[in-house]
Amino acid sequence: MIKPDGVARGLAGEIISRLEEKGLKLVAARLVRVTEAQVMDQYREHAGKPFFPSLSAYIMSGPCLPMVWEGRNSVAVVRRLIGATNPAEAAPGTIRGDLGMDTGRNLVHASDSPESAAREIRIHFSEKDLVEYRRVEEPVLYEWTG
Ligand code: RTP
Ligand code: MG
Repeated sequence: MIKPDGVARGLAGEIISRLEEKGLKLVAARLVRVTEAQVMDQYREHAGKPFFPSLSAYIMSGPCLPMVWEGRNSVAVVRRLIGATNPAEAAPGTIRGDLGMDTGRNLVHASDSPESAAREIRIHFSEKDLVEYRRVEEPVLYEWTG
């Protein structure tokens, strides 16, 4: 999900391009205001932590762009493209490393396991929002397409 700073800074296209160019497939996207209930659900492992109120205010401060991306090992691949939580320490070449400065304004959220991805997809999308299509390079992108 592109967080409000990413949308407000006009970086949605840049962030989407990086995932597209990697070979991941966009199967759902929507520009939305995230509700407090959705923040509580998406970040429930952080409820009660000292930074939770500021995290919650940040996520609700403007429109977000939740997305669903498909691909082999997509959860791990997306997290590597995004980089470390603190953009000041994130490796150059990553989204946070190249585009951000502050943990509290780190541009993107990514699910940290296939299980949390499945749960978080349901926070923002219904089954009919997920589309099926072929990326034309699929036969060349993977050794085995299956
Ligand atoms: P995310 O869940 O947003 O993809 O980020 P992450 O896995 O890299 O980091 P996580 O530990 O899950 O933290 C969630 C978000 O909370 C904010 N945060 N602030 N001030 C702080 O110490 C602090 N720690 C975390 C960040 O926006 C972080 O992305
Ligand atoms: Mg996290």
